[in-house]
Amino acid sequence: MQTIVLATQKGGSGKSTLAISLALAAIRAGHNVRLIETDSQGTLSNWKRRRPYAAPVVEPVYAAREVEQRLQSLDREGVTVAIVDTAGGVSAATNSAIRYADFCLIPTRPSIADIEATAPTLSVVRAWHKPFAYVLNQTPIRGTRLASAEHALSDEAALDIGDILAKPFIVMRNDHQDALSAGLAVCEYAPCGKSAEEIRALWQWIEVRLGNMATAGDEPLIEELVETPAILPAMAALPVIANDSARILRAPARA
Ligand SMILES: Nc1ncnc2c1ncn2[C@@H]1O[C@H](COP(=O)(O)OP(=O)(O)O)[C@@H](O)[C@H]1O
Ligand SMILES: [Mg+2]
Repeated sequence: MQTIVLATQKGGSGKSTLAISLALAAIRAGHNVRLIETDSQGTLSNWKRRRPYAAPVVEPVYAAREVEQRLQSLDREGVTVAIVDTAGGVSAATNSAIRYADFCLIPTRPSIADIEATAPTLSVVRAWHKPFAYVLNQTPIRGTRLASAEHALSDEAALDIGDILAKPFIVMRNDHQDALSAGLAVCEYAPCGKSAEEIRALWQWIEVRLGNMATAGDEPLIEELVETPAILPAMAALPVIANDSARILRAPARA
């Protein structure tokens, strides 16, 4: 089983929305998926109550000490992907979720202030030596400053920026909010829409990363990213835990 944790201390970044969207994309890709809700605010449970379908099961696990055991039993039950939504802030349950994650996603809006606010989460992720990626969410549509940053990033292939910046970016669109209110994921609500397309592509990007992790060997150092354009320097400049080897993407696989 692969455990994917969405975490960042900033509320409104899209943790819950992306957890739901990615869960459905993973189901469509053939996985047996469980959504884990560690945020007592209950966004996933509330969504589930509005939902006209039984799957996926949303499992509330609010106590930090229960996270590991629950994940182990899901693994035994044949769940192949557990997607863990976390609360804003840095709570014990979030810390525990990150500790037992195979891969961490840090959603952020594409502003410097939002990116800087990810620092405490990134510190926890690094402390547990977890592979991670940022997901730029609620971005403006292509054609703006972000698009040129994206092009510039692709041109910088030698830096392999794609390893810590999930692609594609998820554009701000009403589809996401409307799907949530209808108890649906965006790929159910508007399957032919651009939002659904982005989410499916994001899931594929994550799957490739999960698949590569076992053989990961020559990932870039975070320090190599400092000369990348636009918003990426802010990410690279985020504080590094002391003694971290900086080979952040070479985290040992969970036993
Ligand atoms: N890409 C997006 N486009 C438009 N609205 C979005 C997008 N991502 C999230 N939202 C909306 O932003 C709000 C906050 O998202 P949410 O997932 O609850 O954030 P978090 O769980 O990080 O607090 C919700 O109303 C959600 O529907
Ligand atoms: Mg939430």
